[in-house]
Amino acid sequence: MTKEIFDLAGRSAFVTGAASGLGFAMTEAMVESGAAVCLADVDANNLDKAVDHFRRQSNQVEGVELDVRDPAKIKQVVKAYADRQGRLDVMFANAGITGGAPISQPDGAIETIDLDVWRNVLDVNLTGVFATLQAAAAVMKPQRSGRIIATASIAGMRTSNVSGYAYSSTKAAVIQIVKLAAAELAQYDIRVNGIAPGPFLTNIAGGRMFTDPARRDFMAQGTALKRVADPKELKGLVTLLASDAASFITGQVIAIDGGALVIT
Ligand SMILES: NC(=O)c1ccc[n+]([C@@H]2O[C@H](COP(=O)([O-])OP(=O)(O)OC[C@H]3O[C@@H](n4cnc5c(N)ncnc54)[C@H](O)[C@@H]3O)[C@@H](O)[C@H]2O)c1
Repeated sequence: MTKEIFDLAGRSAFVTGAASGLGFAMTEAMVESGAAVCLADVDANNLDKAVDHFRRQSNQVEGVELDVRDPAKIKQVVKAYADRQGRLDVMFANAGITGGAPISQPDGAIETIDLDVWRNVLDVNLTGVFATLQAAAAVMKPQRSGRIIATASIAGMRTSNVSGYAYSSTKAAVIQIVKLAAAELAQYDIRVNGIAPGPFLTNIAGGRMFTDPARRDFMAQGTALKRVADPKELKGLVTLLASDAASFITGQVIAIDGGALVIT
């Protein structure tokens, strides 16, 4: 039955950056589809709130405080979760931050980029995602199955009037990592895909899209649909990629952007 191929009952999932925004929506999709979920986030306060929220829906939810800038810790907590569950079926390498102005602004100009800001964005968005994939592969290879979904961005697919050098470069690199890992891990029946969101109303960049209507309108005008998205609008795509419905899809990065990439 078509409905059954989306069912995730009996599966286990791990989500980085799960306490807010897109990671919260990914967690919601997994919980509603029947999976056990480990929420990981660096923000202990929001993490506790998110875990409490999901425990009202499911007793298969737990949380772990995790900074993805710490590869040894990622490896340890992912392995511990997989050991407790007996396996790890789905990994969302999602945690990410912004940093640095777009090239259209004076402080986004190439010679002004602060390399400390640059390195921090790379540590979270690039090395953090890569280390998360390493930890997932380490437990998924021996079990010879798994699904990995990395959060890229349309900013990694074209130049952007919103994001600067560091953010856009990390997202382009994540797209390449998805392709490499998909090619390497297919022999273990591990599917690796990415999502490339357009503007979603989350707390990224200090939640400016929430608080500043002019900012929100500016972001909306950059899409064909002329609006920004609710994080819940991600749930269909991530459930597809996490489930057997996507059994023949690997190495893809799917834009979910309200048509931002098709307008000039
Ligand atoms: N919101 C958008 O419009 C948009 C568009 C394209 C891509 N993205 C990507 O989506 C992902 C999620 O962002 P969001 O929009 O939901 O933002 P968000 O700020 O609402 O959520 C990000 C979460 O990641 C956590 N986090 C940050 N640094 C971390 C670290 N070092 N270790 C562990 N957790 C950490 C934060 O505490 C937060 O809970 C990011 O990779 C972002 O680049 C977002």
